[in-house]
Order: sequence, then C-alpha cells, then structure tokens
Amino acid sequence: AKAQIGVTGLAVMGRNVARNLARNGFTVAVHNRSPERTRSLVAEHGDEGTFVPGETMADFVASLERPRAVIVMVKAGAPTDAVIDELVPLLEEGDIIVDCGNAHFADTRRREEALRAQGLHFSGTGVSGGEEGALLGPSIMPGGSAESYAKLGPMFEKIAAQVDGVPCCMHVGPDGAGHFVKMVHNGIEYADMQLIAEAYDLLRSGLDAKPAEIAEIFRDWNDGELGSFLIEITADVLAHTDADTGRPFVDVVQDRAEQKGTGRWTVQSALDLGIPITGIAEATFARSLSGHVDQREAARRAFPDAGDKWQVTDREAFVEDVRRALLASKIVAYAQGFDHIRAGSQEYDWDIDLGGTATIWRGGCIIRARFLDRIREAYDQQPDLPTLLVAPYFADAVAAGVPSWRRVVGDATRAGVPTPAFSSSLAYFDALRAERLPAALIQGLRDNFGAHTYQRVDRDGSFHTTWAADRTESPA
Ligand code: 6PG
Repeated sequence: AKAQIGVTGLAVMGRNVARNLARNGFTVAVHNRSPERTRSLVAEHGDEGTFVPGETMADFVASLERPRAVIVMVKAGAPTDAVIDELVPLLEEGDIIVDCGNAHFADTRRREEALRAQGLHFSGTGVSGGEEGALLGPSIMPGGSAESYAKLGPMFEKIAAQVDGVPCCMHVGPDGAGHFVKMVHNGIEYADMQLIAEAYDLLRSGLDAKPAEIAEIFRDWNDGELGSFLIEITADVLAHTDADTGRPFVDVVQDRAEQKGTGRWTVQSALDLGIPITGIAEATFARSLSGHVDQREAARRAFPDAGDKWQVTDREAFVEDVRRALLASKIVAYAQGFDHIRAGSQEYDWDIDLGGTATIWRGGCIIRARFLDRIREAYDQQPDLPTLLVAPYFADAVAAGVPSWRRVVGDATRAGVPTPAFSSSLAYFDALRAERLPAALIQGLRDNFGAHTYQRVDRDGSFHTTWAADRTESPA
C-alpha cells in the first residue's frame, strides 16, 4: 500500500512527527538527506506503526498516494527552499508540500504563491510543543488552501493534542496564516517567559528566598488561574539542583537569554501593522539586553547601589500581589497578541478565527494555559471584542489586580529591581484607559516643526497653526 503522508527531514522534530503519525495508524513515508537517519528511525521505532523508508527523494515521493502530502521538517530559510526545489520536479498537480518548520510567514506567502502557479498546494504549518509535543500531541496551526486541509486535516487533527475531546488543530487560513499565528504564539511565549522571570526575580529579591522555596510558590500558583505549562516547568527548573556544585540550577546558568528569531519577527510585524505589542517587545528586548555583557558590566560598576533596600513586611500579601500582577500583565500580553493576529488577518485577508486560535492553543503548545478557555469564551461571546481586557472574566481579573500591580511595580522601581514587562504592561493598561493622552501635545509639536496638521476635538477636518508667524489657525 502507498503511504498516506511523508516526512522529509528526520532530525528530532521530523522524527517525532513521523512517529506520531505512524502511532496513530497512518502509513508514513520517511526520508532524510543522509539515509542513516531514515534507517535508524525504522530500526528503532519500526514497531510503532507502518513506515515506508525512501533512500532517495524520488523513491520517497514515488511511495506516496495521490494527492501526495509531503511534510518538510528542515531548518527555516535556505534549507527549506532547497528541499522544495528538489521536491517540485517530482510532484504532480494537486500534490501538497507542508512546511512544519518555524518559517517566516512572508516566506510562506512567497512559496505558496510560487507553488500555486505550478499547480501545487503549499501549507505553511505551525507546530508547537517541542520534541515531546511532536511525538505525543502538538498544537498544529496549518495554513494554505482549503483543498490541502481536506487531505491534511483528518491526519493532523488525529495526531494533535486533544483537550475535552477537541483537537488542538484547525485550518487557520490561506497562505501564511498558519505561520503567522505560530509566530505570534512564540511572541506570546517570549512575553509569558519574561513575566515569569520577573515574578521570580521579584520574589527572590522581595522575600530573600531560595529558588527551591520560590518553586513551591509557582507550584501553588499552577493550581489556580495561572495554571499553565510554563508555570509548571518554572517550578521544576527552580527546584532543580546542579549535580556538580550542589547549587540551585538557576544560579549556575549564564544570565544571557538567547533567541532564534520568532520573537523578533513578531515585533517587526507588529510595527508594520501598527499594533502595540509592548509586552512581547519588552520581552524580546530584555533578552537582547541580557546579552550585552560589556554594557551590563560597565553600568554595574558605575552604579553599584542605585536602589533602596527592599523591605517586605507581609510575605503572604506580597506573594499574592506578585501573583495578581503577573496575571494582569499576562492578560495584557495575550490581549496584545490577539490584537496582532486580528490585524494580520485583516491585512492579509485571512479571516482567522480568534476563538478557534485560543481553542487550538489549549493543549500541546508551549503557551498552553488554563485561561485560554476564557479567551475562547470571550471571542465566542463577542467576536468583535475591542480588546480582551474588557471581556468580563479578564476585566474582573485585571480590576482585582490593579492595586497589587501598582504596589509591585512601585516597590520594584524603588528597590531598583527591573520589571520591564510588568511595568510596560501596567503602562499600556493605564494608557488604554486614560481619558486623555498626551498624544495631543505630540500632534502640536508635529504641527509646530513640520506643519503636519492636527484634528480638533470640536470640529471636523485637519488644521494648521502658523507657529512661526501670527499663530492663527486655518483648515489644512
Ligand atoms: C514551540 C516553540 C519552539 C521554539 C522555541 C525556541 O512552540 O514549540 O516556540 O517553536 O523552538 O520556543 O525559541 P527561541 O529559541 O527563540 O527562544
């Protein structure tokens, strides 16, 4: 029998997706540039299902039923293009190439267009969940044509994580929609992790507590509204002791956060679309800042004691303040991420279902969290919700958290503990809810130095004041 789907690129992610498909009863053609990997996959896991190994790309393609569906699991960028170029001459009209890597959605749009012109389907598919997710059930975000989803959907929905019997997979939208949503997922992942890191830092400074004690606080939080994969593994990482030194693991790790680019792409795209994803931007910049060791060293020497001594008197109340501030900041990050998806969807005509996006992030992916159910409800109840912040559940959580949020950010500021994501999320919230913003002054300045004009609160139209002359106003 011919294979129902194929996977080329058998590094750990490709290997695990192939195994997941086979374990779920699909016949999977497998191929890797160096056939060693293909052989070892079949040797080690052949008993998990039906694999059809292909030594060459041609053998691999020939083993697939039509329309062929080929998953490409190689590095984003040039390696992906190289594999596509190798595949195309071997495929026939109606066949489907699926790119499950972390590709930039603009590349996906370009590839989709080029392949469509050749009669092929191209599905840029976001896959989240790391190695384990790929094997046991990831969150899958396929983009591309409806025809391609008709073939891929049943398989992807079966191998995806399931929450309350609902698969963490849906057809996100045409061309780059899937990779766009995966990109924003990663941006939110950056924000979530930065917020968690700041919460840890606050607890550590404020309570003068050991990582293992803070792990217990996170474990506790994981049982409540903050319940999520990232909070759960935070407890694990904080509780871990370095075998070599006996010191807390977090204390032996270099404090420089790396990144592979998806957070940066998210911020770049948000700038293009004019969507203030301040939490994600702060998180991305915080990673960059952590890497500027020379500047950090110089500043540390120049300003050794810039903050007041931190004095927490009521430990329990402080922990609760940090929890509430974390929840409120996290809500801001998700609200911004969903705004970004809505804007992308409008810009590129994708018609992305926001409630559906929350649904497929409930399981499998890195940002899976209890409150995604609440996001789904919010968009189900009001699809044109102006911002998640005003949906009833989130509005209540934020309102309940505001005093804590202000205390935590204020105390941290006085103590000199950096909280870029907590503070900027609070500033975003205050800016959104402000009666008047100083943007009016900015308009005045722009008109003053560049005759850029402004609008008045009491009359329609654009106006200019002759700042350098008699300062009279006229319609522009
Ligand atoms: C996922 C993750 C994954 C990504 C990283 C690393 O959803 O499974 O987002 O795709 O590899 O999280 O990203 P950085 O190296 O940029 O932190």
